[in-house]
Amino acid sequence: MKKHICLLEGDGIGPEIIAQGAAVISRAAGRYGHELSFEKALLGGAAIDATGEPLPAQTVEKCRQADAVFLGAVGGPKWDDVSPDKRPEKGLLGIRKALGLYANLRPALLMPELAGACLLKQGTAEAGIDLIVVRELTGDIYFGEPRGISGEIGNRTGFNTMAYREEEIRRIARTAFDLARLRRRKVCSVDKSNVLETSRLWREVVIDEHRGYGDVELSHLYVDNAAMQLVRAPSHFDVLLTGNLFGDILSDEAAVITGSLGMLPSASLGASRPGLFEPIHGSAPDIAGQDKANPLATILSGAMLLRLGLGLPEPAELVEKSVRAVLAEGFRTADIMEPGMTLLGCVAMGQKVIDYVDKL
Ligand code: IPM
Ligand code: MG
Repeated sequence: MKKHICLLEGDGIGPEIIAQGAAVISRAAGRYGHELSFEKALLGGAAIDATGEPLPAQTVEKCRQADAVFLGAVGGPKWDDVSPDKRPEKGLLGIRKALGLYANLRPALLMPELAGACLLKQGTAEAGIDLIVVRELTGDIYFGEPRGISGEIGNRTGFNTMAYREEEIRRIARTAFDLARLRRRKVCSVDKSNVLETSRLWREVVIDEHRGYGDVELSHLYVDNAAMQLVRAPSHFDVLLTGNLFGDILSDEAAVITGSLGMLPSASLGASRPGLFEPIHGSAPDIAGQDKANPLATILSGAMLLRLGLGLPEPAELVEKSVRAVLAEGFRTADIMEPGMTLLGCVAMGQKVIDYVDKL
């Protein structure tokens, strides 16, 4: 079976990590007789430089024709001064919206091999971290209208609109409950319903949608408390369901407590294909082009692409096993380096994973 992947390398370390990610998944798929073809398209700062737009129409077209989209990262100081509607980030938000990718899945897993890199107290780390943030991705204050800055300089007002329609809440709630059934059957919904009407509706609709899922345990936390519980007792969480803005913040927190932002993958899914798969970290312009980036979050996003984007669980598992084997052998990139381990660059780390994909 031949599958077609659109590669959006983006900016900063994007091209380096995508090169490793694409090489690994191509090899893993090949071991099970599946052929992957790749085509690049421009997104973010790279697209601004080439076309003046962060999301050229041709990129949307190429993504729509693909079976899955594999994305590096966008943004960098070079484009800090461009007008707000032309920023690289607009390209990323635009492609999520254009493809209808309303469900962003961000697993945070503390691999035993990396327990030493966990930022939390030893006892907390020993209890384990295996949670998944289900973040709504195409609504909320990210997209709400009206938005803008009005008034005369010296007396201006900036404003955004936080809004959720019932149907948007229902479908992401179902995503979370369905996913919980494949895990430990616990959903914690995060909102700020003590202050925000948007959140009051959120909680009401989540409770209503839960009626179809009697086998799944549902709890609720205010976002400030959730942020605290994530560092105090992350092992209590299974599926964390939340909106776009809170999910953005909590998923960085969930990621970094496991040791490094450089390890965590994500999948963005809609009602139909293609899905989009990307590491949750940014473009790290400070280390771009130096062969220092950790490609493992991208490689693990590639595993999610194989499993959820293409429906190929076997090569997905092979990639995940290979990453763990490489870590167990003591190979590390700079961001997860510990005494006594072997330091590798981005290319060498990708190659190590391929070695295991070939032999496991
Ligand atoms: C993320 C990022 C993006 C977001 C930015 C780059 C627009 O932080 O994917 O978490 O806020 O969604
Ligand atoms: Mg973020």
